[in-house]
Amino acid sequence: MASSDLMVGLEIGTSKICVVVGEGRPDGTIKILGVGQAPSRGVRKGEIVDFETAMKCVHEAVVDAETKSDVMIRSVYVGVAGSHIQSFNNRGCVMVPDDREEIDEQDIEDVKINAREVSIPAPNAFLHSIIQHYHVDGQDGVLNPVGMLGEKLEADFHVIHGVRTRIQNTIRCVKELPLEVEDVVFTALAAAQVVLTQQQKNLGALVIDIGGGTTDYILYVDGAVKQSGVLGVGGDHITNDISMGLRIPMTRAEKLKIEEGSVTLGNCLPGDTVLLKDDSGFAGKEIERETLNTIIHLRLRETFELLKRQLEEEPFINYIGEGIFITGGCSHLSGIDHLAEEIFELPARVAHAQTMSGLTSAFENPQFSAAIGLIKYAQAVQVDRRPRGRIGSLIGRIFHGMRS
Ligand SMILES: Nc1ncnc2c1ncn2[C@@H]1O[C@H](COP(=O)(O)OP(=O)(O)O)[C@@H](O)[C@H]1O
Ligand SMILES: [Mg+2]
Repeated sequence: MASSDLMVGLEIGTSKICVVVGEGRPDGTIKILGVGQAPSRGVRKGEIVDFETAMKCVHEAVVDAETKSDVMIRSVYVGVAGSHIQSFNNRGCVMVPDDREEIDEQDIEDVKINAREVSIPAPNAFLHSIIQHYHVDGQDGVLNPVGMLGEKLEADFHVIHGVRTRIQNTIRCVKELPLEVEDVVFTALAAAQVVLTQQQKNLGALVIDIGGGTTDYILYVDGAVKQSGVLGVGGDHITNDISMGLRIPMTRAEKLKIEEGSVTLGNCLPGDTVLLKDDSGFAGKEIERETLNTIIHLRLRETFELLKRQLEEEPFINYIGEGIFITGGCSHLSGIDHLAEEIFELPARVAHAQTMSGLTSAFENPQFSAAIGLIKYAQAVQVDRRPRGRIGSLIGRIFHGMRS
């Protein structure tokens, strides 16, 4: 790539592979130069199950992005999802050495390492340790302790981890092309970078990214990530329910869902039907609209209830003043925001990437939130790397098992 301000986000989704090429502007905004896409094959529930096939699809999407943006892609930020991804909050603690009074960068690194001194399942690797808050000698709410006087530094982190080999497989799939992997990023964390403003993170918000095979989520309170994870349920399950329930082929069910489906019940008049024309090997069928919507409604209700139960294991859901932001392909379903409001008893809205320039059609599509968010994440990492070099690439860690 010609300029170091060019950044590329790659999301290997269950439904589509998406490659976004963006350019960081000095004022901190991002211009989208092009978006490449390819249907995803060889990926199930966010995880690669057929390496060769997935690789071909990624290649196709990369070539498409290169053509559209007129940029040669050499390195990418890759999004990872999959229900193997888990998270927890933990506090790290270090004592500042006696011969020094001021807290320095090394203490920050050490406290992060200390927060990871907890056992995660043996096959897992750390993906992110996201700082929540620092405490210096018991003083809460410290934003940047470097340079402060203190004896004891404590820090709360949100730690995200996943099965090492599954993360490695995603990385290998990209490296074989060959492309450099700059970093791997949990998709909901990426999406939140562009779906939410800092103000919304401060006031508390939940982002739900409902894709094809997974529902990825991340919850912010007081500007800090408090909960995150993945449910292995998404829009493909709705399509499957429609196919089974109405006894129609999957491709027909997918088209019916996208073109005619809604989450809202009780809006159709009796006898309101959709006519499916006959096709090779399919006799055609008349579908009750209310039946179609009921199938969609029930699956989404179940998904939201499952997520609610998971979130309620901790108290943070009670502190999200800005409510819920739904993104990803399924957020196109009309009425999904109202259903979320009913179940979570919180304000909910459909959201896409904000504050971008360039290709407007791309960032207005909620299916691209995670891929666009990867660029925003990349921009933040690059800014952080320049003066202090504090955020090391994850790639070395994942492959060599280092704990930095
Ligand atoms: N207009 C639409 N209405 C309803 N569902 C849609 C629409 N567009 C896409 N979807 C659904 O969204 C899902 C794909 O979302 P996406 O975020 O692209 O997934 P992934 O990131 O897993 O590839 C599919 O289940 C698809 O059927
Ligand atoms: Mg996705």
